[in-house]
Amino acid sequence: MKSTLALTLVIVVVLGFSIDGYHCKMVQFIFGDSLSDVGNNRYLSRSLAQANLPWYGIDFGNGMPNGRFCNGRTVADIIGDSMGLPRPPAFLDPSVNEDMILENGVNYASGGGGILNETGSLFIQRLCLWKQIELFQGTQVLIRKKIGAAAAEKFFQGARYVVALGSNDFINNYLLPVYSDSFNYNDQTFITYLMNTLQAQLKVLHSLGARQLMVFGLGPMGCIPLQRVLSTTGNCQDRTNKLALAFNQAGSKLLTSLSGKLPNAEFKFGDAYDVVNALITNPYKYGFNNSDSPCCSFGRIRPALTCIPASTLCKDRSTYVFWDEYHPSESANQIIANELIKKFGFVRANETNAPSSAPAMAPSPGGR
Ligand SMILES: *[C@@H]1O[C@H](CO)[C@@H](O)[C@H](O)[C@H]1NC(C)=O
Ligand SMILES: *[C@@H]1O[C@H](CO)[C@@H](O)[C@H](O)[C@H]1NC(C)=O
Ligand SMILES: *[C@@H]1O[C@H](CO)[C@@H](O)[C@H](O)[C@H]1NC(C)=O
Repeated sequence: MKSTLALTLVIVVVLGFSIDGYHCKMVQFIFGDSLSDVGNNRYLSRSLAQANLPWYGIDFGNGMPNGRFCNGRTVADIIGDSMGLPRPPAFLDPSVNEDMILENGVNYASGGGGILNETGSLFIQRLCLWKQIELFQGTQVLIRKKIGAAAAEKFFQGARYVVALGSNDFINNYLLPVYSDSFNYNDQTFITYLMNTLQAQLKVLHSLGARQLMVFGLGPMGCIPLQRVLSTTGNCQDRTNKLALAFNQAGSKLLTSLSGKLPNAEFKFGDAYDVVNALITNPYKYGFNNSDSPCCSFGRIRPALTCIPASTLCKDRSTYVFWDEYHPSESANQIIANELIKKFGFVRANETNAPSSAPAMAPSPGGR
């Protein structure tokens, strides 16, 4: 045990930054929806958005379901791994405590969640972004108690923040006529409503210490298998894609403006729309074989809302762009992550030209 402790201390000293004698690791706090959920919805027992069943997770670790809505890693997993950062655990996992958060950060992402409170109500239970931010405030209280206010402030200011929501605000809100937002807004006023809400949320995160923050934009969500199956032709839904493009354009503007206004804020917006669109249009060029149907499907019954134990899987998961009706496969996520890494200008944590106490080596991402 002694040598493990010594090793841990060495690693913390090498990777962390020192605050008043307290060594903090660089960690991530992740806010998101099912594209980033790593298991929170498992603990929302009434939520209908569940990935805690086969065949989710089949290409991750031991192949058991782990709460990710994917066969393998999420985009945030892949980006974090490539930067040598630890994988933040799901906030609602009962084993998460202050020490784990100081070591790994934490992930509040929840399947079905949106920027707007009302988004995803059909799933009964999910954490919307405001709720996720509330939980983050609770986390801050715990960490302050544990390490003191000054160290906590530096810990939170030194962390990286990911905000990745928006698809559900369209797919599971605005575009479904059962939601009042669908008739209270038009395309333009709805985007403005989303941006005003997101702006307020990002300002709160900044006031809570977020300095390095990235917002992920939307992909061509009119091309997810569910949207194609709902169209009469089987083609992508053009209007849905246009909304994603409008969201990305407005989001990019918002983040540039916030970065200029908020002190010390390095807030960035990045999307992989064009790359995913190219992949969908010409999958063969990228080594894929299918870009219009889910790898996991239940016979001819479409759309099946999730991948279920009775579903069958495609022969080669690495050649499918989509894992289920909504979510990209791990191999598509890899392409999305590469694009975002390029756009955000990320380098591995060991390559930053940071302060003298900066990491000299990156931790192994681990196979958790
Ligand atoms: C959204 O939900 C949060 C709680 O999660 C609440 O504090 C806030 O007032 C709500 N906002 C609106 C506009 O309903
Ligand atoms: C792609 O799909 C075709 C038929 O759908 C199949 O014959 C071929 O073997 C597949 N290629 C790969 C690389 O999976
Ligand atoms: C950073 O880490 C990667 C993988 O561990 C390694 O290939 C690379 O050479 C390292 N870079 C530096 C500057 O140490």
